Amino acid sequence: MAADLNADRLVRALQGAYNQGKRRKDLLQLVATRMRQTGSPYTGVYLYMVQGNDLILEAFDGRPTEHTKIPVGKGLCGRAVAERRDINAADVSAEADYLACSIETRSELVVLIRRGDDILGQIDVDSDVVNGFDEREQAAVKEVADALAALL
Ligand code: SME
Repeated sequence: MAADLNADRLVRALQGAYNQGKRRKDLLQLVATRMRQTGSPYTGVYLYMVQGNDLILEAFDGRPTEHTKIPVGKGLCGRAVAERRDINAADVSAEADYLACSIETRSELVVLIRRGDDILGQIDVDSDVVNGFDEREQAAVKEVADALAALL
C-alpha cells in the first residue's frame, strides 16, 4: 500500500513554488499546509528550524502550540537534533521527555531536514491516533524533507 502522503506531488509543488521565486518562509508553509491537507494521520505539521542552540517554529498548520522555541536536547524535537536521528514515537504517553502541544496528540513523527552533515531543522508531525506513522509514511515525509533541504 502507498503512503497516505503523496510525497512526489508535494515535492513537485515545492519545486514549482521555488521556480516562481518563493523562498524559505513560503516553502516551509507550503509543506505544513499541504502535508496537513492529507488528513489523518496528519493532524498537525510543524516546521522547526535550527537557530543557534534552539529550534524555532517557522511555519505550521494545525493546532497552535506554545512551543515556539525548543532548546536542542529538550522534548522529542530537541532530542532528534541532539541525537541526529529521526524519531517515530508510536505512543507519546510512553515518552518521558515528550512536550505536549495538545492533549489530543497520541503519536508523533520527527524527520530531520539535512543537507550533508548539517541539520537545518525538522518536520514534526502530530497525529491524534496511536501509531499514526508506519515506515512508508516516514519515508514519504523524508522524501519531502530531503527536497526541502535542497531548496532552502
Ligand atoms: N511534542 C514536541 C513539541 C512540539 S509540539 O508537539 C508541536 C516535543 O516533544 O518536542
